[in-house]
Amino acid sequence: ISSPKPTILVSEKLGEAGLRVLRDFGHVECLYDLSPDDLCSKISDCDALIVRSGTKVSRRVFEASNGRLKVVGRAGVGIDNVDLSAATEFGCLVVNAPTANTVAAAEHGIALLAAMARNVAQADASIKAGKWERNKYVGVSMVGKTLAIMGFGKVGSEVARRAKGLGMHVIAHDPYAAADRARGVGVELVSFDQAVSTADFISLHMPLTPTTSKLFNDDTFSKVKKGVRIINVARGGVIDEEALVRALDAGVVAQVGNYEEPPPKDSKLVQHENVIVTPHLGASTKEAQEGVAIEIAEAVVGALNGELSATA
Ligand code: MLT
Repeated sequence: ISSPKPTILVSEKLGEAGLRVLRDFGHVECLYDLSPDDLCSKISDCDALIVRSGTKVSRRVFEASNGRLKVVGRAGVGIDNVDLSAATEFGCLVVNAPTANTVAAAEHGIALLAAMARNVAQADASIKAGKWERNKYVGVSMVGKTLAIMGFGKVGSEVARRAKGLGMHVIAHDPYAAADRARGVGVELVSFDQAVSTADFISLHMPLTPTTSKLFNDDTFSKVKKGVRIINVARGGVIDEEALVRALDAGVVAQVGNYEEPPPKDSKLVQHENVIVTPHLGASTKEAQEGVAIEIAEAVVGALNGELSATA
């Protein structure tokens, strides 16, 4: 007697190519707007769950699965929305898609960097409001400026390569990166304080962990060069939002391109005139989403087949 096909719940939009891989293997249900309660009621019928960043896979989800859930696939890199200790406790694998959206995230970082240097978003809003403010929107040049990359992993190093193409002097801080890998890209690894105190632009690329949570806080902002511009295509949580608003109001930080986590609602940061935000668009290119969909579908199928252990 053949065993029934595994049921795979996809709770956020996944590229068609990935869905095809999953459908060849199991029974796939795409339910995109489940409330936390609905996810918990549905999960006991599922062998696998595939999410992006919008689904919180909390301890409750693992409890509600009654031991059936064997793998959670994160269609992206960051797994901060999955309770890893609960996953381990309940014997559930967590796999991610570690490579397919690297370039998309780096390109988004560069887009924010250039948009910020030249006030593109603010000037666009101004002209759409019927104004003509050439003097107000004089920008700054990127060539010759120092860019500090905080977190020299896959995305950080791709941002570094591109920034060097813009003629920037690139330094990086990463407690885990090897100096020769950085040198290979023409980047000098420096201490945290040296990076934040010498940079004209700072680009954040570290994962959100208990150690990096609110790493950019009042103390950090007291060390930066006055007028520094900050790009965050990592997680909103690596910055203390209230401290950042204080630094923006004081002119210590001149501009921020931020990768906002939902929901922005009445956020003073999002509304600040020197901040440009996008709704978690770093990985959102057609190419990256197709690549991520295939990468995560293959990882989940592999895990259900018992072919791999956790990659996340
Ligand atoms: C990631 O961690 O790779 C991104 O958050 C991907 C996404 O947009 O879901």
